Parts: sequence; structure tokens; C-alpha cells
Amino acid sequence: MIAALASGSTIVRLSLHVLGASVWLGGQLVVAGLLPTLRSMGEDAPRKVAAAFGRLSWPAYWLLVITGFWNYAAVHGSTQSTSWNVVFMVKMLCVVVAGVGALAHTRARTPQLRGMFAGVGALATMAAMVLGVALAG
Ligand code: HEM
Repeated sequence: MIAALASGSTIVRLSLHVLGASVWLGGQLVVAGLLPTLRSMGEDAPRKVAAAFGRLSWPAYWLLVITGFWNYAAVHGSTQSTSWNVVFMVKMLCVVVAGVGALAHTRARTPQLRGMFAGVGALATMAAMVLGVALAG
């Protein structure tokens, strides 16, 4: 079978969605990986970097939500199969857990809770990404 190229609007829509995912998820993984180095740079360094990352990651999250609804409309989600819609609903749950986890992470008072919420948020985001790939087919 010869694969057709995506249309211009599909390229814009999915590129923006994937851009949001790369900043939101990729940024979390990179910041987590840099944490030991940041700690060695001073007590304040992780907090300052986390605050700076928040100024990038939350716009990326809202970009995901906006382009996500655009995706749903473009692929006429309501006319897709039951299994597609079940995966979509599970993905929406993951997106909510990802957002709430990240918010709880920034508000947590102890390092243990901060770590736990960061982990929950990152895992939910990874699940949302994998489910998104499944939805795209
Ligand atoms: C944590 C947030 C999210 C992540 C990491 C994420 C990730 C992804 C990825 C990687 C894809 C595959 C894109 C491709 O084909 O190259 C995708 C597709 C999709 N996403 Fe998301 N997404 C997120 C949030 C959302 C939200 C909030 C919605 C809906 C409101 C949504 C709806 C969709 C739909 C419908 C598709 C399939 C698009 C198509 O087939 O053209 N996503 N997502």
C-alpha cells in the first residue's frame, strides 16, 4: 500500500500536539535527570530551576489540551469505535492525573511527597503519550 502524505492542517495540529508533549514530558525527565547536578550547585538551585521550568511546562500542558480537543474534533472522535473511545477516556484520565500530579508536586511540603507526586505525574504523562500513539493508529 502506498502511504499518503498528511494534509497541511494535520501536520500543524499533530506537530503542535507533539511539541507540547515533548516539552511537558521531555522537560520533566530532563529536570529529574539533572537533579543531582542541580543539588550540587546550591540549596536554592533545584527550586529556581523548577520554577523556571514551570513557566515553560504549564503553557505546554495547555497547548496539549487545546490541540488535543482539536485532534478529537479532526478525527471525529464520537464516530470512532467503542475501543477507540475507551482508550480516549483512559487517556483523558491520565491527562487529569498528570496535571493534578504536577500541581501537587509543586505544592507538596516534604521531599517524599514532592518525589511521589512527580513520579505519579510523569507516569500518567507517559501513559497519555502511549495511548495518544494508539489513538493515532
Ligand atoms: C499529557 C498530555 C498528552 C500527551 C503526552 C499526548 C500525547 C499524544 C501523542 C504522542 C499522540 C500521537 C501523535 C501522533 O500521531 O504523532 C497523541 C494523539 C492524540 N491525542 Fe494526545 N496527548 C496529551 C493530551 C491530549 C488531550 C488533553 C487530548 C484531548 C482533549 C488528546 C487527544 C488526542 C487525540 C484525539 C489523538 C489522536 C490524533 C490523531 O489521530 O490525529 N491528547 N497524543
